[in-house]
Amino acid sequence: MGPILFSRPFHSPAEIQNVADVLATDHVHGDGPFTASATARLKQMTGAAHALLTTSGTHALEMAVRLVGVKPGDEVILPSFTFSSGATAIVAAGATPVFVDMELATGNIAADQIEAAITDRTRAIEVMHYGGVPVDMSSVGKLAARYQLRVIEDNAHGLGVTTPAGVLGTIGDVGIQSFHDTKNVHCGEGGAVLFGTDALTEPAEVMREKGTNRSKFLRGQVDKYTWVDWGSSYLPSELNAAVLDAQLASFDTIQAARFEVWNAYREQLADWAATNGVTLMEPPGGVHAAHVFWLLLPTPERRDEVLASMRAEGVQATFHYVPLHSSPAGQAFGRTSGTMVNTDDFAARQLRLPLWAGMSEADIARVVATLKKS
Ligand SMILES: Cc1ncc(COP(=O)(O)O)c(C=O)c1O
Repeated sequence: MGPILFSRPFHSPAEIQNVADVLATDHVHGDGPFTASATARLKQMTGAAHALLTTSGTHALEMAVRLVGVKPGDEVILPSFTFSSGATAIVAAGATPVFVDMELATGNIAADQIEAAITDRTRAIEVMHYGGVPVDMSSVGKLAARYQLRVIEDNAHGLGVTTPAGVLGTIGDVGIQSFHDTKNVHCGEGGAVLFGTDALTEPAEVMREKGTNRSKFLRGQVDKYTWVDWGSSYLPSELNAAVLDAQLASFDTIQAARFEVWNAYREQLADWAATNGVTLMEPPGGVHAAHVFWLLLPTPERRDEVLASMRAEGVQATFHYVPLHSSPAGQAFGRTSGTMVNTDDFAARQLRLPLWAGMSEADIARVVATLKKS
């Protein structure tokens, strides 16, 4: 019996055809027809007024931080429990990441602890919707309005999740997606920035095209293109866009398959969890992206034991982020606000189960049985 992988990228037959179509043309660099098509799908799916594909979610975060006007010396508030890219994008702009604790119930930043982290240097709040479970955006929005802060949404996990406050990634000033192959929809490596303000279009295009106004040139709005501001090479090639376009076309199929696995875990583990002191992920209002299925074991020792035992049986369960406030770079570049009691606890007791589109009933049964006997 082979191992059950933690994550497997979704495949669609259209990807190969799209890539062959790109290679058959002389337009393999970015901003061709597949970039346009994938961008249109993304806008349609999210309702974002503007979307630009990028080379990664990390690069999209670098753009987002600069687009909201973060400058050297500023501070940006973010959860400690997130991926390093959220912090490194802030550091890349010369600013300081300020880490805030999380909620145990959702895995998201503790919205009620953000205010205590605000200083006169704070420029923005960067939230991350963990597993596509929405952050309390109403509280974040009120704080942002009161203190005149910008809001960045790291929505790497929550593509297309709809909430009463709007579609995730389009509620704050700038949102980002990741299309890394561990995400629900992928193109190997890729990402996107989403925003609603027309005035950000030009700076975003310049930033993505090596600091030049090449996008305007391609639209015939200037007769030659030149270096106009800071930028980098954040535009993905048509090969990536071709894969992404096929994946986005399969979005509903991917999500239905992932939800089937997620729902099966919930159903098959509920009684066992209740009698074994285990907390299963329980998204408020049932809103999430079926990106992760996590549970909290009663103690860190028990988590490590269960993890080791599942892995020995060939089931690749895993933990998640090492909190940024305790990481070497977090300590060198960042500042911690308040206590990190929930973050340290969650990170030490959390376990994630394999979850991908295409897992069979037998795979799910094996994961569940292995977990129960571990
Ligand atoms: C929450 C979050 N944000 C950003 C990223 C970075 O995205 P990418 O790998 O596309 O650079 C990741 C990880 O992939 C992530 O989990």
